[in-house]
Amino acid sequence: MSKKKSVFDFHEMKKNGEKVSWLTAYDYPTANFAEAAGLDMLLVGDSLGMCVYGYNSTVPVTMDQCIFHCEAVRRGAPNTFVIGDMPLGSYQTSDEEAVKNAIRFLKESDMDAIKLEGGVRISDRIKAIDAAGVVVVGHIGLTPQSSGQLGGHKAQGRTAEAAKLVVEDALAVQAAGAKMLLVEAVPPEVARYIWETLEIPVMSIGAGPYCDGQLLIVSDLIGQFQAFTPKFVKKYCNVAEIVTDAMREYVKEVKAVTFPDEDKYCYHMVDGEEAKFLDLMRK
Ligand code: KIV
Repeated sequence: MSKKKSVFDFHEMKKNGEKVSWLTAYDYPTANFAEAAGLDMLLVGDSLGMCVYGYNSTVPVTMDQCIFHCEAVRRGAPNTFVIGDMPLGSYQTSDEEAVKNAIRFLKESDMDAIKLEGGVRISDRIKAIDAAGVVVVGHIGLTPQSSGQLGGHKAQGRTAEAAKLVVEDALAVQAAGAKMLLVEAVPPEVARYIWETLEIPVMSIGAGPYCDGQLLIVSDLIGQFQAFTPKFVKKYCNVAEIVTDAMREYVKEVKAVTFPDEDKYCYHMVDGEEAKFLDLMRK
């Protein structure tokens, strides 16, 4: 079993050019598989709202939901660096509220870091959480919690002016004390500029290969999430098909009484007990 990585290891990996593999997880079994597969980091994303609860967006997700899922993931991946995602409403209102909620991730679910969305506009919150001793991961570009302001789930930074704003966000996140940065749905030309400019590790989700590591949503990677598939997603298998086929087969076998096979899937009575039992029932 490999040793759990710390944020210093990710800074070292950046220096050495070793890429970081990062995936979301929301439950115990998935965290178990991810740790066995050798993922460097996990994110208990507020995308759990869409991937697990079936909401239309991440907006309804609460702190308590995040904490419960973080607890399950920690139990499933005790030796992996796990990041808790701060949901909408948990850090926007004040520094005090942001620090209080960030600390909940550490105290109640043993997270190694927290992630929050936003650049320049959220830099005071990053400073406050960092000052409280919590490792902060920034998230800029497409920020799903504020997708209403962005006109939907759209790529960001595609014009020169828009790209400059994304770079300003990246610089603000680093200056505020974040220890890593996630860049979402931004052209590779822009992500590359950020990667070459920043000292902290820069991760990509839909921002191309010029970064220190890649993040994907596990429900996309395994082909479980059905509602839509962003352009940047590569499906490595099709769990929806595999599971639906298995369930279809089960329905067929139950109807045909070919499951359960009496010899294979049943607990028979102890030898000689059946006759005694029938005798007993006759009395
Ligand atoms: O919640 C999440 O999984 C995320 C990713 C979309 C980056 O924040």
